[in-house]
Amino acid sequence: MRDEPVYRGILGVDIERFSRAEWTDPIRARLRDRLHTLVDDALAHAEIDPGLTVRSDTGDGLWLLADAQVPTTRLLHPLATSLASGLAADNRRMPAGEGMRLRVVVHAGELLHDSYGHTGASLNHAARLLDADATRAVLAACPAAEVVLVVSDVLYDGVVRHAYQGIDPDGWQPVRVHGKETSARAWVHLPGLAAQPPLPAVLAASRVGPAGLPIPRELPRPPGDFTGRVGELASLRKLLRAGGSIAPRAALRPAGPSGGRGPGRGRPVVVAAIDGMGGIGKSALALQLADQLADDGAFPDGQLYVNLQGATPGLAPLEPLDALGRLLRALGLDPAQIPTSVEQAAARFRSLAAERRLLILLDNAHDAEQVRPLLPASPTCRVLVTSRPVLATLDGAHQLHLDVLPERQALELLGRAAGPERVAAELQAAAAVVRLCGSLPLALRIVGARLAARPAWPIRVVAERLADATGRLDELRAGELAVRASFDVSLHTLTESSDAADRAAVAAFGLLSLPDGPDLGVAAAARLLDQPEPTTQRLLERLVDAQLLETPRPGR
Ligand SMILES: Nc1ncnc2c1ncn2[C@@H]1O[C@H](COP(=O)(O)OP(=O)(O)OP(=O)(O)O)[C@@H](O)[C@H]1O
Ligand SMILES: [Mg+2]
Repeated sequence: MRDEPVYRGILGVDIERFSRAEWTDPIRARLRDRLHTLVDDALAHAEIDPGLTVRSDTGDGLWLLADAQVPTTRLLHPLATSLASGLAADNRRMPAGEGMRLRVVVHAGELLHDSYGHTGASLNHAARLLDADATRAVLAACPAAEVVLVVSDVLYDGVVRHAYQGIDPDGWQPVRVHGKETSARAWVHLPGLAAQPPLPAVLAASRVGPAGLPIPRELPRPPGDFTGRVGELASLRKLLRAGGSIAPRAALRPAGPSGGRGPGRGRPVVVAAIDGMGGIGKSALALQLADQLADDGAFPDGQLYVNLQGATPGLAPLEPLDALGRLLRALGLDPAQIPTSVEQAAARFRSLAAERRLLILLDNAHDAEQVRPLLPASPTCRVLVTSRPVLATLDGAHQLHLDVLPERQALELLGRAAGPERVAAELQAAAAVVRLCGSLPLALRIVGARLAARPAWPIRVVAERLADATGRLDELRAGELAVRASFDVSLHTLTESSDAADRAAVAAFGLLSLPDGPDLGVAAAARLLDQPEPTTQRLLERLVDAQLLETPRPGR
């Protein structure tokens, strides 16, 4: 552990839209290999001794920190520029669909090093520039470019402006980068293009929010191991992609007979509504999609997210006025100015959303009444709604009904949670687990997490116990064990429930009452199930409701 900061050159690389649905894991693995090879080659070309650098992989990119002996100018040119030309040559050799585009940041500053790695404000700043809407938007707006290079204001002033190493300062354009509380200037350059394109309107809009308001980026992260749903993602993407230009009206018309919605005087705002049973993955799909769209730079004015709590036992659905309050605050409205009636708050929201390219994700809606006041009127916005029931009365919304995962994807999900090699080694038992979980993502994740916590357990054992947890109901039902009648009723109700989240709760019950499972305190269960808090809470509440949680080892 060193307690003094040391000056380091910083180069960060991110593969654009690495989580896109079209790329499979083997493709992603190849891309990562290629990226590291390209960096090796670029280092050699720039005559930078790799021994003077430290490299760390981020999954979809990498960071390279250079010793103070390496002039920062060289990181920009020739290192970053030869990385760009290397990529261009490499992309031409790749099969269609495996070309990659990179965002690259160069910066420098004092960093601390401890046992976890490097840290410091300069590194955070570089990460912010790499991840900025503006950086993404430049790449999204310039399809001919394979790389966007971004540097901090400091680096521009210290290096680019002086034309060191033959760098042409005229090839760089300023952009504004918004963080949570700050905004900073950065400079971008698109290497490999004969002339730098004037940054188009899409970018101009992303530089500053209207009236200096902050640009909200509220999307929670999608599940890291999101699996499948390729078709659904593709059709929703097509529907919702804004890409800076609004598709012609005909392309946006909803399939239903009702045509457009009321509030939009011109074109209707596009609303996509995903419905399906609890635990089937509506929210996961919506988050994955929203994340991809945001990654594309499709919504430069921001992304809003509200959990409407439509299906959380013990929690009332969020009142439209509360939801509007959150949306308005996210758009920068002073809380004291938020109207106290739904009508006025909704009108205010429509004003603030007007002409802005916003993606609004209304997650876990209860019904159409709850959603209606939250819809913007401006066709520059896109709305994504998830709900268990079909929101049939949401006129003009494009409806997508989500079904359970096909078996192959269900197996893949189980593999990602429990370890793919285990699933491959016990394919039959894994298929049985998938069947017993009804291919429901929620149940599969719970079982997967349980397996992951028990590396030595054969999947077969879990399959047997799951079958047993279900089979036990029949035994209970057959016997005259009066004391157990309540378990019977509870488990039975849950098992027979048309709500798949209830059936997931049964699966969780089967697993949590395994003989060697730790005691089932709420906190322990949450850790064990390795589920996001709301999901765990929901499951546990179902079990509590069904009076199954408090009793150790029922049925034994
Ligand atoms: N395609 C998927 N890949 C990986 N995990 C998934 C997938 N779909 C769902 N999951 C996981 O399954 C669990 C339940 O999913 P999610 O919360 O999206 O369900 P939901 O349909 O929104 O349920 P509810 O109606 O209760 O809101 C979550 O832990 C989620 O991460
Ligand atoms: Mg949900």
